[in-house]
Amino acid sequence: MEYTLWARGLRRYYGSGTGLVRAVDDVDLVVAPGETVGIVGPSGCGKSTLLQLLGGLDRPDRGELWLGRRRLDGLSETAAARVRRRGIGFVFQSFHLVDELTARENVELPALLAGTPRRAARRRAEELLGRVGLSGRAGHLPGALSGGQRQRVAVARALANDPGLLLADEPTGNLDSAAATEVLRLFAALRAEGRTVVIVTHDSRVAGTADRLITMRDGAFADETVLTGRGGRPASGLGALAGLDL
Ligand SMILES: Nc1ncnc2c1ncn2[C@@H]1O[C@H](COP(=O)(O)OP(=O)(O)O)[C@@H](O)[C@H]1O
Ligand SMILES: [Mg+2]
Repeated sequence: MEYTLWARGLRRYYGSGTGLVRAVDDVDLVVAPGETVGIVGPSGCGKSTLLQLLGGLDRPDRGELWLGRRRLDGLSETAAARVRRRGIGFVFQSFHLVDELTARENVELPALLAGTPRRAARRRAEELLGRVGLSGRAGHLPGALSGGQRQRVAVARALANDPGLLLADEPTGNLDSAAATEVLRLFAALRAEGRTVVIVTHDSRVAGTADRLITMRDGAFADETVLTGRGGRPASGLGALAGLDL
């Protein structure tokens, strides 16, 4: 299921008075179904905070956030968790795999939590591990995998419930160059198959896989570049609005 992600006037401040931090400062964003949007900018400019807002892991102080026809801002913790479980996949810099579970079990977990029968969850996990090139490692614990392999397991896990939106926060940030290349290929493949992806990155090669690149500064969008020659999907602006599903 593909959804348009739509945010208007999204704001998240921390602290108060002289300690006030405008982590996300009235951000407007539309991500069309099938689009890969890269977000870059200096450390502390609000990239992670924005991604957490977009994924319903944190609540905005104000502003609206919609995923398809569903309004996400202001949902209760339980309702937000339900939307996340079914509709949004996360990939983090530090993988966040469960160390005590095998690769297969890590990938199965979100499906089981969403109520998928055990057999179907197992089948899905096997299929996804195959897609990220790790069929032969399904029974390994994360500790027995390389960084690049762990991150590929994390991507497979993020896809377990076939989410309409995939959010990634510096997914190559902890990887050496060769491992980063593995993960980079994976994101390029996700883009090619029409996944909707928002990816925060420091890595210019990762940024290069995006359809559109947004630069953040001091909590706001400072610049936007549409990367060309990428197969003619609507990338931004009116094209994205035309795909709006509200
Ligand atoms: N939980 C928090 N409490 C207070 N300040 C925070 C918190 N999380 C982030 N910040 C501040 O908000 C700003 C944006 O942080 P962050 O979104 O992590 O930036 P980035 O991911 O671009 O490095 C920074 O100044 C950071 O110190
Ligand atoms: Mg960050």
